[in-house]
Amino acid sequence: MSDTIDNLMHESRRFAPSADFAAQANASADLYQDARRDRLAFWATQARELVSWNTPFTRTLDWTNAPVAKWFDDGELNVSYNCLDRHVEAGLGERVALHFEGEPGDSRDITYAQLTAEVKRAANALESLGISAGDRVAIYMPMIPEAVVAMLAVARLGAVHSVVFGGFSAESLRSRIQDAAAKVVITADGGWRKGKVFALKPTVDEALTADGGAPTVEKVLVVQRGKNDVAWDASRDLWWHDALSSAAAEHTAQPFEAEQPLFILYTSGTTGKPKGILHTSGGYLTQTAFTHKYVFDIKPETDVYWCTADVGWITGHSYVVYGPLANGATQVIYEGTPDTPHPGRWWEIVQKYGVTILYTAPTAIRSFMKLGHEIPAAYDLSSIRLLGSVGEPINPEAWVWYFENIGGAHSPIVDTWWQTETGGIMVSPLPGITTLKPGSAQQPLPGISIDIVDEHGTPVGKDEGGLLVITEPWPSMLRGIWGDMDRYVDTYWAKFGDKYFAGDGARFDQDVDLWLLGRVDDVMNVSGHRLSTAEIESALVDNHIVAEAAVVGAADETTGQAVVAFVILKARDVEKITPAEASAMLRQHVAEKIGAIARPSRIFIVSELPKTRSGKIMRRLLRDVAEGRPIGDTTTLTDPAVLSVISAQVH
Ligand code: PRX
Repeated sequence: MSDTIDNLMHESRRFAPSADFAAQANASADLYQDARRDRLAFWATQARELVSWNTPFTRTLDWTNAPVAKWFDDGELNVSYNCLDRHVEAGLGERVALHFEGEPGDSRDITYAQLTAEVKRAANALESLGISAGDRVAIYMPMIPEAVVAMLAVARLGAVHSVVFGGFSAESLRSRIQDAAAKVVITADGGWRKGKVFALKPTVDEALTADGGAPTVEKVLVVQRGKNDVAWDASRDLWWHDALSSAAAEHTAQPFEAEQPLFILYTSGTTGKPKGILHTSGGYLTQTAFTHKYVFDIKPETDVYWCTADVGWITGHSYVVYGPLANGATQVIYEGTPDTPHPGRWWEIVQKYGVTILYTAPTAIRSFMKLGHEIPAAYDLSSIRLLGSVGEPINPEAWVWYFENIGGAHSPIVDTWWQTETGGIMVSPLPGITTLKPGSAQQPLPGISIDIVDEHGTPVGKDEGGLLVITEPWPSMLRGIWGDMDRYVDTYWAKFGDKYFAGDGARFDQDVDLWLLGRVDDVMNVSGHRLSTAEIESALVDNHIVAEAAVVGAADETTGQAVVAFVILKARDVEKITPAEASAMLRQHVAEKIGAIARPSRIFIVSELPKTRSGKIMRRLLRDVAEGRPIGDTTTLTDPAVLSVISAQVH
């Protein structure tokens, strides 16, 4: 880690806002002042300005039942109405909400009026399937407009969506459906990825039938996208287009309490079982709309905004669906991969739609860097005026490349730190105000209180690394872990009592700008996606040839971290299979158990694992081995010689 810090600290260039950008910026220094003067009044103002309430709230925050917050809790609203109908009522129905670009090259522009009409029909269709407020609906879709429609239709009914990323396996999908006891699943026959149709419906079928299935599920709505052949259970499956065309066109959005659950999104933690992060309505919408407006400087009349995240992740929820649509923005959504059918695909899309704001992950930027600047240079990217980064630390080299080659050396870059749990952006520069420092996420947003503390909760000094904590509740904070409030308290609050522990290491520099230093727990970050070492280890030991497994996230030039596994085979299997065969088989096994995103990049078959006297695997030492570094302190190991055995087997 010290290498990384040195590397980060050596970038000393500073980028002050240009006078032109500052003159038109949404943000002003008053935001910080107002929030400092009265944090709660500041958030109440945002909630009143950015959200339409059926019943205005009179209470801003109720923290008496900490750590479960209630924000604006005597107010009532409908989140879907806020993202749709109110824009149409304001005369903006003809504004494009979504420019959809399919991977094969098909495209569709969908106006706010059209999107509202679709969502109304979908809400009626769901209602006729028995969905009402509080019910859970699982969504397992490609990145197509119907995914957005499905989310907003569920929200419109006061029901709760659980979007599961389309790359997850049947087993991962099933466990999420079971945990939330979903009544309906919305999926597609398949979607386009890497030039081919990637089937989704068969995975849903398997999730609902194999290994006990998911008995709570009554119906499956299927969007036709890939036109691939699918098996059909007429008692359970319905085509989306049939359900919508027979549904009534009109649907009046009912108001719900501000604390009405809006969605559950599963994310990896330090144990094998993913956590269902619960978000509610009024506070979540306030903070996502607020951050979207000020961090991205959105001008809904003129901007074309593109966040490249999939709706299966929190970034897709907050900055494709809720924030941008609440603000009436026009955005691009793209179904496929960045390099299909050619490596310039993203830049072609930027040129085609005149994208002005681009929000993506450092991994994507680093892979473009590798391909060479000639590729974006072949397109007209002059429309771009602001860039965003999310999901992992952005190294200064990638920052500067992004700035120069994508942003035309004039677009500010906002490096946004946040998490599934925080719901919205927490730390970021404000464009037009902040002097940018490549590699640093810089400042807590107005209304957000962050500190860096040591193991005992004592704030550390400048330039001293520590643990990132959030010291005051915030509107879009998680309200708990679905079905497991004890785990919520244990995971985030038990360590420091009154402070939310984020799981990230960080430091303030001499200017009190914040630098993220990666996770301090057993969570990995691969291409900006969270993976749990424990979850992958349990997938590995589930295989009959595996006796023991340890997984670490090892530094990787492109993906930030890569999954590296150390596996001990059962004695009876060691002679029967070569290490190469075992490794190939186990990589495939993990992909089937969890999903391709969790597939280890390397698996080493070893005969021992380094353990402390209490039997804990020393992952830190395995990371040293995987990264080819000198091995750290081994004094607490039962048998320090184990490391040389492992190193010899690996190298
Ligand atoms: O470690 C931090 C990293 O991603 C984690 C959150 O992952 P997830 O819940 O999947 O949400 C990702 C999208 C918000 C954090 O604990 N992370 C996120 N953004 C940044 C980051 N690390 C450094 N810099 C960032 N800008």
